[in-house]
Amino acid sequence: MIIAVDGPTASGKGTIAKALSAHYGLPHLDTGLLYRAVGRQVEINGGNPDNISDALAACYFDEALLNDPILRSEHIGGFASRVSVHVDVRRALDQRQRDFAHQIGGALLDGRDIGTVIAPDADAKLFITASPETRAKRRFDEMMRHGADVVYDDILADIIKRDERDIGRAAAPLIMADDAHLLDTSNLAIDAAVQRAIAMVDDIL
Ligand code: C5P
Repeated sequence: MIIAVDGPTASGKGTIAKALSAHYGLPHLDTGLLYRAVGRQVEINGGNPDNISDALAACYFDEALLNDPILRSEHIGGFASRVSVHVDVRRALDQRQRDFAHQIGGALLDGRDIGTVIAPDADAKLFITASPETRAKRRFDEMMRHGADVVYDDILADIIKRDERDIGRAAAPLIMADDAHLLDTSNLAIDAAVQRAIAMVDDIL
């Protein structure tokens, strides 16, 4: 069984993916982390994420990077979004994701193009979304909780910019697969969103 969970940043996708993987007992791959590792490796190498050679060289990142909390930062999220535009970077990360998806016993992957490119054959596809304002508010609250000194309008602008880049790129843009099921979490608390996602997957399977 393969479950694909796609959607934009701060939609609740990551939390929902974790909860679904625990509920159905499936190994989980957060594919955004792979792009974040490439972004971070570019930074370590002193490269430019918009430069294809720099981005491609960074695809051979140190595996230990995947556990580095710095990968979760907004700053590295921006780098990840910039390296993920390059077709050759996506190609370099593709096989690893496809292998994970098609392992014996099944898997759950979350990202932007799981239902469309990595596992079009997935048994259940969810597309998680929420308004940019809701997502910015969630990100803002989360960062304030961690003691960061942030401005809501900056976060909203960043989210809109990242959406535009993810949706507008030629290679594997962020779009909902034809056979995906939409879950808008704008007006749902996270627990309710998780319960709704489980009910949706139960219905699909
Ligand atoms: O999901 P997350 O915010 O960690 O992803 C970081 C960036 O990596 C996204 O903005 C997106 O540009 C890119 N990404 C992607 N394809 C995926 C997962 C993430 O292009 N499957």
